[in-house]
Amino acid sequence: MQPGTVTLIKNVTAATMTDAQLGLIEQAAIVAHNGVIQWVGRENALPMEYQHLVLASEERQSATIIDGHGMLATPALTDCHTHLVWAGSRANEFRQRLHGASYQDIAEQGGGILSTVRATRAASEDALFRMTLPRAKALLSQGVAHVEIKSGYGLSLDDELKQLRVARRIGDALPLRVSTTLLAAHALPPEFANDSDGYIDYVVREILPAAANQGLVDAVDVFCEQIGFSREQTDRVFRAAKQLGIPVKLHAEQLSDQDGAALMASYQGLSADHLEYLSDKGIRAMADAGSVAVLLPGAFYFLRETKLPPIQALRDAKVPIAIATDANPGSSPLIQLPLMMHFACTLFQMTPEESWLGVTKHAAAALGDHQQGTLAPNQRADIALWDLESPEAMCYEFGINPLRHLLIGGEQVSK
Ligand code: NIG
Ligand code: FE
Repeated sequence: MQPGTVTLIKNVTAATMTDAQLGLIEQAAIVAHNGVIQWVGRENALPMEYQHLVLASEERQSATIIDGHGMLATPALTDCHTHLVWAGSRANEFRQRLHGASYQDIAEQGGGILSTVRATRAASEDALFRMTLPRAKALLSQGVAHVEIKSGYGLSLDDELKQLRVARRIGDALPLRVSTTLLAAHALPPEFANDSDGYIDYVVREILPAAANQGLVDAVDVFCEQIGFSREQTDRVFRAAKQLGIPVKLHAEQLSDQDGAALMASYQGLSADHLEYLSDKGIRAMADAGSVAVLLPGAFYFLRETKLPPIQALRDAKVPIAIATDANPGSSPLIQLPLMMHFACTLFQMTPEESWLGVTKHAAAALGDHQQGTLAPNQRADIALWDLESPEAMCYEFGINPLRHLLIGGEQVSK
C-alpha cells in the first residue's frame, strides 16, 4: 500500500458498533488511509503492514497520530432527520400550546408549518443560509459528521429549490456531509387551499422532476397524516420518486395510524419516522423490507405526547431503530443529538447501546449510507473521540460536551 495520508488513533476504547453490545475493543488502535478505515483492533495486534505504513507516512510528514489517552472512540454521529433550513420563530405557538391549544389546532388555524412557510418564502437564499449555518455548526460541534436536511417550508417550485440549495451549500461550507430530502408534500400551501390533489399533481409533475434534475434530491419524504396528506396521495408521490430512482422515507403515524409505514415499506423505503401510532402490520412490513424505524424523542417531548412508539415490538421484529433530532421550529426546536440519546433512554426506555446504534449505524442506514456508521475496514474515517468513561455516560448526563476529536474523511475538524 502506498503511503498517502495516514491516521493512527491509539490508546482508545473503540465502540465499533458491529454488534448489539457495541463491539467494544479495549486498548484499541484504528488505522485510516486516505480517508478510509483500514484496520481496527487491539493495539498490540496491529499488523506489520500497517506499522510500516504509519512509519513510511511519518517519514513523508503525512501521518497524523492521535493518542486517545483511554478515551472512547466511536463512529462520528449521523442526524438522519432534520428540517434545518427555516426562517422565523414559533415561540408564540409554544405559548399557545402551554395554554392548551394542540399542535393540530394551531395547524388547522393556518399556523404551524404554514407560519414557517410564510417566513421561509420571505427570506432570501443567502439569509436562509446565514440562519442555517449556526444550526449546522452546532451539530458538528456535537460530533455529527452527516446530517439529513429536508425541504418542506417552501411548498412552491422556487422556494423548495431555494431550501434544497441552502442545504447543499451547508455541505459545501462545512466539513459536514449533507443528505437532502425533498419534503414538498409537507403541508398544503395557500395557493392550493381545498385542492390537495391539485397540489400533489404540482409536486409530482413540477417540483420533484426539477429538483431531481438539479441534483438536489437524495430522498423523497411525505407528511402522511390527517393534517398532512393521505395514503393515496403519498402513494402518488412515492410512485413518481420510484420512476426517478430516488429512495423514499415517510413521516408516518406521528399523530394517528394512517398505515403509512406499510406503504413506505412496499417501496422498500429507507425509513419511517416518528411512529408513535405504528401498528403491528406496519412493523411486520418494515421488518420484511429492512427499513429503519427513526424515533424522534425531541418531538415526543416538545409536543408532550403520551403515546409511546411500540419499541418492544420493533425490537422483537428486529427492525433497526435510529434516533434523530427532527430539528425544526414547530415540533422539536432542539438541535442537540446527544440530548436525544438521553431522551431515548429516559423517555423511551431504550438502552444506551440502542441509543448509540441509533445515532451511528442505524442512522446511516436510514440515509442509505453503508460506508458510515461503524468502525470497520472500508468505512469512511468519520470518527469521534469522547472524554467519557463508558458508552452509557453519553446518555447519562448532558450539558458538558465530551467531544475531544472529530475526524471526517480522515481529516481532523477543528472545534
Ligand atoms: O417532523 N410532522 C411534520 N413535520 C415536522 C414538524 C414541522 C413543523 O411543525 O414545522 C415534524 O414533526
Ligand atoms: Fe420531521
